[in-house]
Amino acid sequence: MCGIVGYVGKKHPKEFLINGLKKLEYRGYDSSGIALENEEETQIIKSVGKIVELEKKLQEEKSITATLGIGHTRWATHGEANEVNAHPHKVGRVTLVHNGIIENARELRKELEAKGVSLKSETDTEVACALINEYYEDNPIEAITKATKRLKGSYAFGILLEGKDKLYAIRKDSPLMIGYGEQENYIASDIAAMIQETNRYSLLKEGEIAVLDPNKVQVFYEEKEVEKEILESNLKEDSASKSGYEHFMLKEIMEEPTVLRNLISRYEDKDLPDLSQYDEIHIVACGSAMYVGLVGASLIEEKCKKKCYVECASEYRYKTVLYRPKTLVIVISQSGETADTIAAMRKAKENGVETLGIVNTETSTIARECDKTLLIGAGVEVAVATTKAYILQAALLSLIVMKTVKDEDALKEMKQIPILLQKILDEKEIFLDVAKSMYKAEDAFFIGRGIDYAMCLEGSLKLKEVSYIHSEAFQAGELKHGTISLIKKGVPVFAIITDPAIADKTESNVMEVKSRDAFIYTITNTEEIPNHGFRYIVPKTSSYFEPLLVVPTLQLIGYYTAKLRGLDIDKPRNLAKSVTVE
Ligand code: M6R
Repeated sequence: MCGIVGYVGKKHPKEFLINGLKKLEYRGYDSSGIALENEEETQIIKSVGKIVELEKKLQEEKSITATLGIGHTRWATHGEANEVNAHPHKVGRVTLVHNGIIENARELRKELEAKGVSLKSETDTEVACALINEYYEDNPIEAITKATKRLKGSYAFGILLEGKDKLYAIRKDSPLMIGYGEQENYIASDIAAMIQETNRYSLLKEGEIAVLDPNKVQVFYEEKEVEKEILESNLKEDSASKSGYEHFMLKEIMEEPTVLRNLISRYEDKDLPDLSQYDEIHIVACGSAMYVGLVGASLIEEKCKKKCYVECASEYRYKTVLYRPKTLVIVISQSGETADTIAAMRKAKENGVETLGIVNTETSTIARECDKTLLIGAGVEVAVATTKAYILQAALLSLIVMKTVKDEDALKEMKQIPILLQKILDEKEIFLDVAKSMYKAEDAFFIGRGIDYAMCLEGSLKLKEVSYIHSEAFQAGELKHGTISLIKKGVPVFAIITDPAIADKTESNVMEVKSRDAFIYTITNTEEIPNHGFRYIVPKTSSYFEPLLVVPTLQLIGYYTAKLRGLDIDKPRNLAKSVTVE
């Protein structure tokens, strides 16, 4: 989604702004822009499409002398992706970039227009910019405070004010951080954007206003100056490089055995939350993180004998939730910034319910706000399609369950899983062959039962989000209640069969679609399941670990299918890495 960078310092800001925006490209965007400012003028350059288009424009237009600038990647929400709607916006003396959504933009726009303010774009951002300009006489803090008090919704703003050689920033429900350099300071919505310059940063809290000049950073809350703790990030500058792989998605899949090993050594001797203490568990998340939740719920119910509900965060936040006296809400998020997941977490907290975050990004809102947070330590995940984070989230949920039920044998067995997974990944060409056989398909189906169905949901999402093949996952027994009418000659059907208790049942459903000429790809853990066309057998392990071996095969199938279709695998159309708006 949208990304923000800002610079004030001894150098020309252009280089940092462009490099920073490139580091944010992975989040997904459809236009970009920068604003440069000096004492006399503001120059705004914007472009639709990739950052390279912006760079071309920068080469064509001579940039002004400046030591102050802001930049933005926009993922369109209010108004189509064009140059007028792209950020930065400038109204009067205020230039601004924005992440988030201003929910009362329409009524504020009417109010401003009634006063004679003319706005050029369709965006909520320009409305916010105009509002700050309305309140701005000569006191920046007062103007920003007054304007933001009138905004509903979420925002992170990077702001330039004509005549002030400082950079201003404020946030609510959208991340923003300050970076500290030598005679230069930065803002960014993601540490990755500035890690090449500095690893010293602080997180802006809701409602704090940062004022940055080259030598000083001041932060105000309710117009009083506050002290900020400076933290050090250990993010590696090259963690966002492809390390020789053609795509981040493949690189990140291939990293899975290593990061899994790291996760095991990080948590094997640590106390983890004991699920037996709770009346029931709720898991809230979005997309793949929710599908991991389904894997976890299956284990929690099977092994801990605890009721576990999995809810999509965008529903949970608005529905009537009946909490039992001791409920634990597990919040799963790679980015830790997914707007709906944050809202679901806050709902639980407002109800006095304990929250446990399973998060990758240490600096994120969910990591900071959950009562307890367990970091998965996947490192930066650049590809929009999550892979290694999914595996680590599933592994951590399994570990929590194993520790709750004190399953020492499983804890020992887990150490072998990275080795088994490595062997599967070493055979990755097998999945290239699978992709070769079906990459021209228009539809695909995934069927399974129980925990296998949870894996089907992830396999299907992976395939459709990167290859754009229409794909659906079904509980195998449910197919004949309607969807089987879509099965026709040659349509790929992936059957996941690992749970011996229901293997025969799923196999019967496989026969139903086979009889209707579907092409069957089976991923199983036993020779006993027949090969109907393609069969891949993962090693048999206890049920905690099957998802850690099966899902990577589905990730590879999605990856290779998209590759054969010649698509932009790491940045699929319309998608954003971190969905920071509702
Ligand atoms: O950052 P989060 O884990 O909260 O993101 C949740 C989903 O947006 C994410 O898993 C999404 O479904 C991915 N594109 C799946 O690959």
